[in-house]
Amino acid sequence: MQLIHSVAELRARLASEPPVAFVPTMGNLHAGHLDLVRIARQHGRCVVVSIFVNPLQFGVGEDFDQYPRTLEADCAQLDGLADVVFAPSVAEMYPAPQTMTVTPPPIASELCGAARPGHFSGVATVVLKLFNLVQPQVAVFGKKDYQQLHVIRQLVAQFNLPITIIGGETVRAADGLALSSRNQYLSAAERGAAVFLSQTLQTVKQNLCAGVRDTAALEQQALESLAQRGWQVDYVAIRSQATLAAPAPGERALVVLAAARLGHTRLIDNLEICLEG
Ligand code: PAF
Repeated sequence: MQLIHSVAELRARLASEPPVAFVPTMGNLHAGHLDLVRIARQHGRCVVVSIFVNPLQFGVGEDFDQYPRTLEADCAQLDGLADVVFAPSVAEMYPAPQTMTVTPPPIASELCGAARPGHFSGVATVVLKLFNLVQPQVAVFGKKDYQQLHVIRQLVAQFNLPITIIGGETVRAADGLALSSRNQYLSAAERGAAVFLSQTLQTVKQNLCAGVRDTAALEQQALESLAQRGWQVDYVAIRSQATLAAPAPGERALVVLAAARLGHTRLIDNLEICLEG
């Protein structure tokens, strides 16, 4: 595995490497990331992982400075799994102020975008830059960031990028908590309580599968049960898997998504639901 910090070296290394499969990350890797890298291995002769904490996607007062940076440990985990780790500095990625950015579709202003204005523009912009640098045939993103995956699929489709996007399943801890680098911000007591987010989504899923169709009532119940346990809820929303809009009547491929704060930590999770009928 080769660790590369500069754009020039990356381009030289990858010049003769197709097909490349790519996993963009912000580092602090956990089992969920490693799963994505293993999926990438099935799709490319050369597997590239980027590690870059992208300032463009963090708002004022968010955790950009605090975000865990663990390059050495990340490289140790990737040894034997990835061929190239691209870990540029902020100056390498943004040698001049990034005054041209991607404006994502309106859906990016809902759900997480409502609480984090500009977040998906920052994500889409850095991912487009990374795609241009790595020029992968395949790129793998986690379904844990469901709205991000949707925005990236739109980016690829609307800008005609010749890249196949693959969504990797969310990896969970034994109690059901979705793995996330931000879980380490939780105190021991909060970590114990954090499982309630995925349990709440399971309850919504069970109700939908049992035939309940009043999605607004299910969202409200979920929101209230989280709030009663001390969570500050940004949203609980039942949406269409395909569009992330409110489901059309009779639509069966749904997803329930939620974002909520436990103490100072904002956690997100989602569950796909395929209704029978
Ligand atoms: O999901 C992430 O880790 C980041 O949002 C990404 C896709 C690497 C862009 O910075």
